[in-house]
Amino acid sequence: MTDDGTLQNPRILLIVSGGIAAYKALDLIRRLKDQGCSVRVILTQAAMQFITPLAASSLSGQKVYSEIFSLTDEAEIGHIRLSREADLVLVAPATADLMAKMASGHADDLASTVLLATDKRVLIAPSMNVRMWEHAATQRNVATLKSDGVLFVGPAEGDMACGEYGLGRMSEITEIVAAVMGAVSGSTNMSAPLQSLKGKHVLVTAGPTHEPIDDVRYIANRSSGKQGYAIAHAAKAAGARVTLVSGPTSIPPPEGVKHISVLTAQEMRDATMEALPADVFISCAAVADWRVTKVSAGKIKKSKARPPQIDLTENPDILTEVSRSSSRPRLVIGFAAETDALIQNARTKLSKKGCDIIVANDVSSGTDVMGGEENTVHIVRASGVESWPKSSKSDVARKLVALCAGELS
Ligand code: CTP
Repeated sequence: MTDDGTLQNPRILLIVSGGIAAYKALDLIRRLKDQGCSVRVILTQAAMQFITPLAASSLSGQKVYSEIFSLTDEAEIGHIRLSREADLVLVAPATADLMAKMASGHADDLASTVLLATDKRVLIAPSMNVRMWEHAATQRNVATLKSDGVLFVGPAEGDMACGEYGLGRMSEITEIVAAVMGAVSGSTNMSAPLQSLKGKHVLVTAGPTHEPIDDVRYIANRSSGKQGYAIAHAAKAAGARVTLVSGPTSIPPPEGVKHISVLTAQEMRDATMEALPADVFISCAAVADWRVTKVSAGKIKKSKARPPQIDLTENPDILTEVSRSSSRPRLVIGFAAETDALIQNARTKLSKKGCDIIVANDVSSGTDVMGGEENTVHIVRASGVESWPKSSKSDVARKLVALCAGELS
């Protein structure tokens, strides 16, 4: 156990069921091992149509299990011990069939028996055709599994092996790894992610910017800076060197983080460009889109004539500038604060601003995201969308940091 309460070498029992995404399980084993996990694998009979026990065993460095009635296996470890000697049971891919078995408590093969016998957290990464995912039976099973406490990562939206498009693709491996690490740290305390960002420089912008009108008035927005500060904190906890360029907020800077305090978008742009190079840039600030073209000296006085006319000039787009710069960080993540057409607008921003990921959040009135404690975000990439359940801004930050570590590894 580390100081922050996370497990040092989590033991993952990976159950691979038989869908086309099963071939990705081999890469998943490698990525989990990169994160210091030990991985024991169970293959269903159908999974063995896609990958061989030999390949899974070579990558995991452990014996692979598939038979419930194997005398040798039962003598060696037994299915009950197999289900208990893990910190987390991960099912990836989870087919509609295996999910149905889990929801109704079947135990007719090794995978379903272990899932019924386990007393550990279970995380599943569904993978199936869009119609199968949308079918009422599957949705009933999803609801049952969720109410049983099963954790989900995905499915994502995108092109499918069957030629159709929609929700049902297995999540990206980096996202599954991030969810595993989140779940494993959550099994002791929901604090810092396990992944190390040691030796990496993470640059974060946060908070609003203030654009002066005169010496006493300014244009601003409702951003509190909480999400950006939580990200800086989580990145620091994961071992990164962190620079936080922040507009005006009332939050104390996280310990050990280089905090650069700015007021306007122009100042934020200059401080951010100066802080490069970085391995990761996370643009969380709610940068004002416009500044007042001619800031008045002193305080504008009321007069009997018409109210003052304020002329605006567009501010530099910091995110676009960083992602197009010659010292572009390996990973550039933007946020999209939207009130309508969330995913569609986020996709447009992804390509327009040239970033790798857009974290889309609905900030319309009633969501209480701006200034609030919780956030519901969607991870938008060129390859698809991953929706995360509503959680505290610190949990979103930890998952995002874990995702960054996965991407960089
Ligand atoms: N951003 C930035 N510089 C700006 C404006 C936005 O770096 N001048 C970044 C934000 O930090 C965020 C992303 O761009 O990561 C999207 O910001 P958002 O306010 O959602 O979008 P805008 O580009 O401002 O577009 P619009 O306001 O029209 O939605």
